[in-house]
Amino acid sequence: MIFYAAHIVSRRRTPSAIIKYYIQLMTTYAMNALIVYDSQFGNTEKIAKSIAEKIGKQTKTIHVSKADSSMLKEAVMLIVGSPTQAWRATPAIRLFLEKLPDIKDISAAAFDTRFKRTRLLTGSAAHGIAKALERKGARLIVPPESFFVKDTKGPLLDGEIVRAEGWARLIMQV
Ligand SMILES: Cc1cc2nc3c(=O)[nH]c(=O)nc-3n(C[C@H](O)[C@H](O)[C@H](O)COP(=O)(O)O)c2cc1C
Repeated sequence: MIFYAAHIVSRRRTPSAIIKYYIQLMTTYAMNALIVYDSQFGNTEKIAKSIAEKIGKQTKTIHVSKADSSMLKEAVMLIVGSPTQAWRATPAIRLFLEKLPDIKDISAAAFDTRFKRTRLLTGSAAHGIAKALERKGARLIVPPESFFVKDTKGPLLDGEIVRAEGWARLIMQV
């Protein structure tokens, strides 16, 4: 009976698909995530918001200028994103990371936006962010990820929003 109801609600056909659906639903609602981002031209912000939408209702997305570590009290996950500028994260993101307290119990992930060329040439804010998060004791749950822009002011390359949503799904499965 329960499975029948679940089938109606989720439109999943097999018991295992229904169970998977409910686990996913519960994870989404239980996950109290904080996404802190910087963005000069709006591209990193778009990625941050797409990730937040996929992770679910309990996710707070906040510009670094308004973020402070007291917001981490109830968070189980911290995601930090920045445009890559001069091969690394923006000064505001670096300062935020520097000021972070010990975040031993928190799962973390890092992303950036940058040009789609070899990382040796472009650098990557996400890699520096990931290292800083680990130094503070966070547990990195996925490798740092980059999303690509066509030009300095954007727009994002085609498909990058979909890729960000996929990355968010990966985070939820960990
Ligand atoms: C001052 C400055 C420095 C930049 N340096 C780099 C860089 O080292 N590597 C890179 O791939 N992109 C670089 N870019 C391009 C940015 O990564 C791009 O502007 C950013 O992804 C756009 O994100 P936003 O709209 O969130 O600001 C730079 C852009 C600016 C304005």
